[in-house]
Amino acid sequence: MLETYTATRPDAHVDVLDLWDLQLPEMREDVLNAKYAIFARREHTAAQAAAWETVKREAARLLDYDVLLFSTPMWNWSRPYRLKHYIDVITQPGLTFKWTPERGYEGLVSGRRAIAVYASSFDYAQGSPLASFDHQKSYFEDWLRMIGINDIQTIAFGPTHPDAPAMPTAREQALTHAAAIARTL
Ligand SMILES: Cc1cc2nc3c(=O)[nH]c(=O)nc-3n(C[C@H](O)[C@H](O)[C@H](O)COP(=O)(O)O)c2cc1C
Repeated sequence: MLETYTATRPDAHVDVLDLWDLQLPEMREDVLNAKYAIFARREHTAAQAAAWETVKREAARLLDYDVLLFSTPMWNWSRPYRLKHYIDVITQPGLTFKWTPERGYEGLVSGRRAIAVYASSFDYAQGSPLASFDHQKSYFEDWLRMIGINDIQTIAFGPTHPDAPAMPTAREQALTHAAAIARTL
């Protein structure tokens, strides 16, 4: 997909973020207290302010881009823990959402387009026997909407299992779908 996109838009700036290589702050102590201080309208301590800088930096990196391409495997019917860690770091009051008693949650990441690519050993498409086990897409796309991204396109590749008879067709369909979306970006 990226190859088609960069061929179509050679001028585009592409930033690839590999969550396994990213130094994400631990979600404990100063980061958590910094978050709760914002909800409680308390000043950050020096340690909390320093911890919050790392969170702000990560959120700002996401906000720098107008097209966001996510690619994730299914792990135990949901997302890998590393993706959840990333979501926990950047889903923050004043950065990617706000909450008021009057209006509840409001996403702050507006004007972005997201493409979510999912892979799973088996097929979880609507109407398939395993559909109710799919907590991958619903979780991830609810999160996108919660932070304000409503323009979402989904590419699902499943089954990826090499012994599944439907695998080659599913792969072909996912690649064709991805290339078609890439040309519209
Ligand atoms: C820890 C772990 C848990 C997995 N859980 C599931 C699962 O619940 N359902 C499924 O269909 N595939 C599951 N898989 C298989 C992957 O989703 C599948 O191999 C996918 O194609 C991996 O994509 P990747 O090759 O891009 O990492 C799991 C794989 C791993 C490593």
